Amino acid sequence: MATMNFGGMDETVVTRDEFPLAKALEVLKNETVAILGYGVQGPGQGLNMRDNGVNVIVGQRDGSKSWQKAIDDGWVPGKTLFSLEEAAQKATIIIYLLSDAGQKMYWDTLKPYLTAGKTLCFAHGFAITYKDQTNVIPPKDIDVVLVAPKGSGLSVRRNFQAGSGINSSFAVFQDATGKARDKVLAIGVTVGSGFLFPTTFEKEVYSDLTGERGILMGALAGVMEAQYNELRQQGSTPSEAFNETVEELTQSLIRLVGENGMDWMYANCSTTAQRGALDWKDKFRDATAPVFADLYESVKNGTEARITLEANSKPDYREKLQVELDAIKNSEMWQAGSQVRKLRPENWKKE
Ligand SMILES: NC(=O)c1ccc[n+]([C@@H]2O[C@H](COP(=O)([O-])OP(=O)(O)OC[C@H]3O[C@@H](n4cnc5c(N)ncnc54)[C@H](OP(=O)(O)O)[C@@H]3O)[C@@H](O)[C@H]2O)c1
Repeated sequence: MATMNFGGMDETVVTRDEFPLAKALEVLKNETVAILGYGVQGPGQGLNMRDNGVNVIVGQRDGSKSWQKAIDDGWVPGKTLFSLEEAAQKATIIIYLLSDAGQKMYWDTLKPYLTAGKTLCFAHGFAITYKDQTNVIPPKDIDVVLVAPKGSGLSVRRNFQAGSGINSSFAVFQDATGKARDKVLAIGVTVGSGFLFPTTFEKEVYSDLTGERGILMGALAGVMEAQYNELRQQGSTPSEAFNETVEELTQSLIRLVGENGMDWMYANCSTTAQRGALDWKDKFRDATAPVFADLYESVKNGTEARITLEANSKPDYREKLQVELDAIKNSEMWQAGSQVRKLRPENWKKE
């Protein structure tokens, strides 16, 4: 492991230098890897592994759009595409990529296929950490590991195709064979991770649920809405309010922040923006800090897991979700956004 200094603190990460693809393929050469579930992560991880030369098959329940998507991606029924049970039976390494609610519902069916010496790999610490709610308690004689890509399954695939990667965290929960660490790193490398950093199942799920409910999606959408509404109430048109709230962020600032950091952004904007941003940063931090504290507590005490499992286990959950998603889609701000995006020069030809 390479030791790197992150802001004054030493941390260890695994890079391609110490765990190259050739080593990963050597570790996996006698393994059959089954990707169970072909939703968002399944295609990204499965296709990357296949392109990297791993012996990989897909398990997916028949009759749904995901089954057809797997066929469209070149998986062949009876050869590389099977029912969940058949794939689990054939596999020596199972990457469990059903939705988190699906993992709970399918667990009792999967258990008989988890025979001694096999490896069960998760992409999220959810099922194991909230075992009191999910009942996911693996048998003691298998390896249980985690590779959690820090991005959407779409980016897992897109970045791989573009020749870059996505960072993933990894963890070993149970090492029955003594080889769990090598296996988890080999999985991490072959699914297309750039570098891998160590975590535990618990830390992964706590930070991940906080992040997506917080700054990555919940907080971001919330503060965008608050600013947009204020500008509209004060007389800005929808396009002006949208441009000042979202478009300038996504088309300019956040790209520069990605390249150079927010510290650089502060040092390289107008002095007017700089003065104001310096003055207002701490107010926003202090106003939102209690919300983040509530959020973390709700993650840690299992409330978020309970809400997620209850909502996503209902037979009509997709329809119910659609109503909520449509409300965001049809809101004035995101309708304005749809119009603004059409006006981007790169979209002119599509008009
Ligand atoms: N989304 C991401 O980019 C992302 C990022 C990092 C980690 N993860 C983790 O990766 C794992 C997979 O997430 P995902 O977003 O890819 O999930 P998803 O898109 O919601 O995947 C759904 C898959 O689960 C299957 N499924 C759901 N309920 C089922 C049930 N009761 N029985 C059998 N199959 C069932 C679906 O089959 P049907 O299509 O037939 O319903 C589909 O194959 C999760 O642990 C998640 O936390 C996801």
